[in-house]
Amino acid sequence: GTDGCVGRRTNTRNWSETAGEQADSRQFPEGYFWGVATAAYQIEGAWNEDGKGESIWDRYAHTPGKIKNGDTGDVAIDHYHRYKEDVALIKDIGAKAYRFSFSWPRIFPEGTGQLNQKGLDFYDRLVDELKAADIEPFATLYHWDLPQALQDKYGGWQSAETAKALGEYAGVVAKALGDRVGHFFTINEFKQVTETAHRGVELHVQGRTVRLMSAPGILLEDGPLNQVRHHAVLGHGLAVQAIRAMGRAGTKVGPAENMGHALPIIDSPEHIKAAEAATRAQNKYFLGPMLEGRYDDAYLKAAGNDAPKFTDEEMKIIGTPVDFVGINVYIPLLVVEASDDPPGYREVPFSISHPKMFSDWHRLSPESQYWAPRLLHSIWQPKEIYITENGCAAADEVAPDGNVYDSDRLMYLRNGMTWQHRATVEGIPLKGSFVWSAMDNFEWINGYGDRFGIVHVDFKTQKRTPKLSAQWFREAAQRKSVV
Ligand code: NOJ
Repeated sequence: GTDGCVGRRTNTRNWSETAGEQADSRQFPEGYFWGVATAAYQIEGAWNEDGKGESIWDRYAHTPGKIKNGDTGDVAIDHYHRYKEDVALIKDIGAKAYRFSFSWPRIFPEGTGQLNQKGLDFYDRLVDELKAADIEPFATLYHWDLPQALQDKYGGWQSAETAKALGEYAGVVAKALGDRVGHFFTINEFKQVTETAHRGVELHVQGRTVRLMSAPGILLEDGPLNQVRHHAVLGHGLAVQAIRAMGRAGTKVGPAENMGHALPIIDSPEHIKAAEAATRAQNKYFLGPMLEGRYDDAYLKAAGNDAPKFTDEEMKIIGTPVDFVGINVYIPLLVVEASDDPPGYREVPFSISHPKMFSDWHRLSPESQYWAPRLLHSIWQPKEIYITENGCAAADEVAPDGNVYDSDRLMYLRNGMTWQHRATVEGIPLKGSFVWSAMDNFEWINGYGDRFGIVHVDFKTQKRTPKLSAQWFREAAQRKSVV
């Protein structure tokens, strides 16, 4: 009879059935957003079409010597004209969510004031296309392409006027698209738009020191730089308030920060505690004030005369509660505890032979996909967490058969997502993650040299070819599982 059959099946459980059960326990929660991400300047092109204003990245890329090989985002991967094809592709590779950014000067060519309806219409069509494809849109307001007009008029983030302008722009976009876009990110990577833009990083190459900077590439002393940092978080706070006021009930908003995170390289309680302290210190300029509504006393004290000038009212705005925190997770700081040595932790170097991905800066740390959200959760308990970027560049040779076998990226993503899964199992409110990037694109000062896509783009013909990692992603997203 039937019972016997069931019994027999149980007794003869074969290997694949057992593996299937294990896979179930490895499933990501229902509703976890399996996403891919991009940003306007890196993909759109059409830099001066349909009334778009100039951005600081247009200006920077057009300045000789700033970008590797003189590359620019003028055409990029022509997404502005190929967005339909690209949405179809994003659906095809199995993504359930898509994080993109609005080009601010496409919508407000001067940064404020006169709206460019044609620019806004582009995003309107894009969002419709995504919804029709059943892909959830997640939109970033500011992914580095500040209207040049705001740079010229106010010195960009050196002035609180730019923060106000971000708030106004946020309100207009939330009003226009908030019926279909449920998740907004304010600013992408605060450190990049403040520190890398105004201080840069020094590299020592063959006995020479070179300073690499992002647009606008204007050097600032400590005091003005702290003020720039302050204006960035102020802009975030104003944008959060504007989106709340102009969005719909249920519209969610938060930052997308490249959260500095300390990896407890030895995972025992005292080292974890040290990593927490180090992570807190790493985020004193941005996440700290945004999530606590105040600056760390030690920071203000150490900065002395260089501390930012601010009012209580501004701190309230900066600390406006957010619905989630987005974090871009790439490389950690390695720390060990050092209780006899204030501040109680010590940074340790990466070994010279520590594995590295294609980009020079990119040390391998899949554990970060767990520790960054875990530390964020234990320090600030945000309601929801998204990993807004997870990915790496790779050499990505096109094989004779036309395919791109990016085994390194595939392993990188799978490893990372295995650690993300652990976070979800432990009750950390990680709600989804986005692969950086959907498609190869303009990698800022590295130009088109560093390919981050899970879809290959031939920059000459604009032909798109999903890589091996895209096939992996599709199957994993389908199974909701990485094993
Ligand atoms: C972070 C940035 O948000 C993104 O624009 C960039 O391409 C990736 N990191 C890779 O460097």
